[in-house]
Amino acid sequence: MEYVTLNNGVKMPILGYGVYQIPDPAECERCVRDAISVGYRSIDTAQAYRNEEAVGRAVKESGIPREDFFITTKVWISNAGYDKAKASLEESLRKLQLDYLDLVLIHQPFNDYYGTYRAMEELYKAGTIKAIGVSNFYPDRYIDLVQFSEVVPAVNQVETHVFNQQVKANEIMKKYNTQIESWGPFAEGRNDLFTNATLKEIGDKVQKSTAQVALRFLIQSGVVVIPKTVNKTRMEENFNVFDFELTAEDMVKLTSLDTGESAFFSHYDPQTVEFLTDYAKKGLE
Ligand SMILES: NC(=O)c1ccc[n+]([C@@H]2O[C@H](COP(=O)([O-])OP(=O)(O)OC[C@H]3O[C@@H](n4cnc5c(N)ncnc54)[C@H](OP(=O)(O)O)[C@@H]3O)[C@@H](O)[C@H]2O)c1
Repeated sequence: MEYVTLNNGVKMPILGYGVYQIPDPAECERCVRDAISVGYRSIDTAQAYRNEEAVGRAVKESGIPREDFFITTKVWISNAGYDKAKASLEESLRKLQLDYLDLVLIHQPFNDYYGTYRAMEELYKAGTIKAIGVSNFYPDRYIDLVQFSEVVPAVNQVETHVFNQQVKANEIMKKYNTQIESWGPFAEGRNDLFTNATLKEIGDKVQKSTAQVALRFLIQSGVVVIPKTVNKTRMEENFNVFDFELTAEDMVKLTSLDTGESAFFSHYDPQTVEFLTDYAKKGLE
């Protein structure tokens, strides 16, 4: 495994396993068990995924030492604000059966995320969280938070894949020393990513799949990736991306796939904000 070093010296695997859209507890537990057996040690969950308990069980039952894992969770919009965020993180620790978290992110830049961040800073200083960061913070909100917080976010997890490479946003994150982490490294298959001609042409040359080339491109660009699959064979495929290298020429070709736009939705779009905040107002229970 390769690692990135976060701005506070914490080492984070550059490849992890994401568990979004695996709400069934037994299925999620089986997936995480499979992922661990394949070799994944970094697991990305969230309060909103409703599967922290399943992740916790699979991690605990693996028998692998806690310090070998890198566990991330995210504070949901409905748990925003100092008191609620703090209580919600105690709940996350209980559900995950952990006494510390490697990384906690603010899931979305809505509601009282300043209060949330203060609670995270406090838990960070107490050693209960080893690194803190944000997710879906576009440059405007990201800069605002950086300017008025004590701890610079270690990570910003944003939609990043060959079709939306976040070049400008990443330049800004680099300026303040925040690691970019990709969500949706395959764009969840949108824009026909798995049959894309450029990914396929390069993959054929190095005897790798389109998925492997898509991940390798991000890894070689210094982006942390957390691909999701419920299929063990694909978990292995997505894990086997360290035994080849893309040439500078191939990297340029892949750079040209960037549309500079989201394949999902923009956090600048009022409709998106209304949808997410309406959903969050219903709470998690
Ligand atoms: N912070 C956020 O707001 C946010 C948002 C979205 C995601 N995330 C995180 O990022 C992780 C990854 O993103 P994502 O789950 O949205 O999407 P993704 O990883 O881009 O794509 C997952 C999709 O690709 C398929 N797939 C995976 N590996 C494949 C392969 N080798 N060949 C063909 N198909 C393959 C999966 O199908 P099968 O499962 O059927 O194999 C699934 O439909 C999430 O699990 C979550 O942890 C965070």
